[in-house]
Amino acid sequence: MPDGDIERRWWKESVVYQVYPRSFNDTDGDGVGDIPGIVEKVDYLDDLGVDVVWLNPVYDSPNADNGYDIADYRSIMDEFGTMADWEELLDELHSRDIKLIMDLVVNHTSDEHEWFVDSRAGDPEYEDFYIWRDGRDADEVSWSATEGPAGEAPPNAWKSYFGGPAWAYDEEREAWYLHLFDVKQPDLNWENPRVRDEVFEMMEWWFDKGIDGFRMDVINLISKPEGLPNDPDDPFCGAMTGPTNGPRVHEFLAEMNERVLDREYLTVGEMLGPEIPMEHARRYLDPDEDGLSMLFHFEHMLLDRGDNIWERDEWALSDLKAVFNRWDDGLKTEGWNSLYLNNHDQPRMVSRFGNDGEYRRESAKLLGTLLHTLRGTPYIYQGEELGMTNYPFESLDDFRDVDTLRPLENAIEAGEVDSFDAVKEAVRANSRDNARTPVQWSAGPNAGFTDGEPWLGVNPNKGEVNVETERADEDSVWHYYRDLISLRKEYDVVVYGEYDPLFPDDDTVWAYTRTLSTTDGDERLLVALNFSDDDVAVGLPDDVTSDEGALLIGNYPADGDPDVVSELAAGDLRLRPWEARVYDLR
Ligand code: NOJ
Repeated sequence: MPDGDIERRWWKESVVYQVYPRSFNDTDGDGVGDIPGIVEKVDYLDDLGVDVVWLNPVYDSPNADNGYDIADYRSIMDEFGTMADWEELLDELHSRDIKLIMDLVVNHTSDEHEWFVDSRAGDPEYEDFYIWRDGRDADEVSWSATEGPAGEAPPNAWKSYFGGPAWAYDEEREAWYLHLFDVKQPDLNWENPRVRDEVFEMMEWWFDKGIDGFRMDVINLISKPEGLPNDPDDPFCGAMTGPTNGPRVHEFLAEMNERVLDREYLTVGEMLGPEIPMEHARRYLDPDEDGLSMLFHFEHMLLDRGDNIWERDEWALSDLKAVFNRWDDGLKTEGWNSLYLNNHDQPRMVSRFGNDGEYRRESAKLLGTLLHTLRGTPYIYQGEELGMTNYPFESLDDFRDVDTLRPLENAIEAGEVDSFDAVKEAVRANSRDNARTPVQWSAGPNAGFTDGEPWLGVNPNKGEVNVETERADEDSVWHYYRDLISLRKEYDVVVYGEYDPLFPDDDTVWAYTRTLSTTDGDERLLVALNFSDDDVAVGLPDDVTSDEGALLIGNYPADGDPDVVSELAAGDLRLRPWEARVYDLR
């Protein structure tokens, strides 16, 4: 039995599965996934063994940013179905003991939200719901915008995360409004207490409907720095740095915590920025302050990402480890980590951190092993459990994502980039659309996703990579994921054990132990992962070897194996390409 020091929470013991509804399963043949399509697959999720579903936005939206531009927080997008469909989904999930968390997008709304419509019309009740400013004299400042009255420049030089100025001129109100994302996503003014009241009431409304928590979109952007400072050398002016962790962010979230949150909910805050200072992270997660369960940071997602969609950086395994090690250490005693390697905004993990060719299967399993045996709550992004890969985009017409197309088209127009072909490899590797191609349910037409024309191309590898094939094969990525998920239910050490990295500077092998002191002695695991296409030998420190150890899970078939147990006893592991082993050290 574990000792009494563990702060048990259901959301620490859970595995979350992310559903991006547009690409999950289409039942009405319009080429867009829908909520009845998710209902149809609830048994699938149950079979896999996940505990929580995180649903990307399903609210009414004109879809400038696939639902992250919300026009009405209390209704369901027509393309996705009705509120009755959503209620059925919640019931179906709950009846199988699966929880549901919704996406909370409250840094901004759609410009079609009635608050914005009234705000731009100058309605006194709503005029301060958004961030409006007068323009500047274009002759006096060094920045400009193509839109807006002649001779006027935007209020400051901030750039949108999606490229171009973060300000748009509104003819009706004759003023500029801030949009850190698309022009159709005006930022809410959280300084206005009425905005906060509206947001908290809306959250309460969803809690009353029975949801189990929220994933909070770009929640560390809600407090803008006072005076909207404008030094072009200041990080606030650059894409991906933005006005993060602003001066009142903890005050706003603490108010949310006090008014609507509860530790029994799962809340996970998405935190933009190249680095989240640990003192901020701890405040976000402190139950007596902001009270979030977890956060998503981007540090590992930025390792290989250049400054622009058409640029790439090199990454090394030691860099990736350093990020996870820093976060484990930082939240060791206070807070709790989320664990993810892909989502709807990121390329497929097996193409990015693994080998999506010869070792697709092995490396998909290895990355899964990592996510399920580090300390934190694992998030599986739909299709990850099949080892789905990036898509072979051939031309700009193949993309749908505003955050791929807009910056690239702007750069081509400005002459910064010659053509798509000139930057094809990098854009292919970086684009969010890689994650958004339809889930591959079968080898049939459109991978069984739709009877119509899918809104985004189906990956041509659907013949090899699909649910039917994966489920039929006991050695598949899918079955391995199922085993990983159940490991979490069987071993407390997987959830609560201390994480101790071995060889932090090694660029090929990631190895670590997990240890949990219990009244019956220590529970201890060793995880060894070979991140390369070659065989590799690993000499273990003496205190990590074991004569009585057993392999709990590994990604190579057992037949004809090297004797993995005696290798452990000898302290000398021979890992094959992309091999993953988890030992119980006993
Ligand atoms: C983060 C979301 O995950 C992404 O898809 C969206 O474009 C931005 N926030 C803006 O809401």
